Amino acid sequence: MIITNTSVHLKDLISIAKRDRTIGFIPTMGALHDGHLSLVRAAKEKCDFVIVSIFVNPTQFDNPNDLANYPRDIDVDIKKLSDSGVDLLFIPSEQEIYPMPDRRIFDFGSMDKVMEGIHRPGHFNGVAQVVDRLFRLVQPTVAFFGEKDFQQLAIVRALVEKRNLQVKIMSGPTVREHDGLAMSSRNRLLTNIQRSQAPVIYKTLLEAAEKMDTLEVAALKKWVHNTINEGKILETQYVEIVDARTLQPIKKWSDAGSVQLCVAVFAKPVRLIDNIRLK
Ligand code: PAF
Repeated sequence: MIITNTSVHLKDLISIAKRDRTIGFIPTMGALHDGHLSLVRAAKEKCDFVIVSIFVNPTQFDNPNDLANYPRDIDVDIKKLSDSGVDLLFIPSEQEIYPMPDRRIFDFGSMDKVMEGIHRPGHFNGVAQVVDRLFRLVQPTVAFFGEKDFQQLAIVRALVEKRNLQVKIMSGPTVREHDGLAMSSRNRLLTNIQRSQAPVIYKTLLEAAEKMDTLEVAALKKWVHNTINEGKILETQYVEIVDARTLQPIKKWSDAGSVQLCVAVFAKPVRLIDNIRLK
């Protein structure tokens, strides 16, 4: 595996790699887990040359403490990626990605005015800034994103469409621990008691899917909220049932063809997200 820190070197390597070959790209913020590695496996299946980036992007953090405490484990990450057969790892500095402050404001209409967009102001603008910048540097044929970040995936697809970027976006299913907890770099920040409670989130989402036939949308949201909060260790920040295409909250089950249940839950100060397709 080749490792580079500069965009100049990256460009040289890519111009060689690109000849008649497809490039698969997985942007990450490091602290890698099997969710990331499953995207690497998908990229290796679909593409000839696989590139991963590790960059903890400051512009997508609305909370300086969250940025400071974001887990970093670069040596272990390098080993995991090298063992997984990644061809090229890009670990840029902040100066490399943002030689000048990025003041671009992206307009995603109503898509980023819900869920994460409300509770993490500016988050998706920061994601769009860095993903746009990385796509321009890496010029991937296909880029891979996890479905755990359901809203991010929709925003990235919208970004590609709006800016007419020549990259195909593929998604990978949420990878879960043996007890159902969605894999996340943030899980390692949980205390033992929080970790033991955290599987309640997915268990509740699964049970909610079973209750769709008997409860209306508002009642189901309330039930999810109460069930997750019951043990007093977890506290929902939002429970939303949205049109899976537009991300807009629905009021009746007939309001949308595909419906997603999305939650953000605090195990303070750690914040976890998860989602499930209801129909
Ligand atoms: O999902 C992430 O890890 C980040 O939001 C991403 C896509 C790498 C952009 O910084």
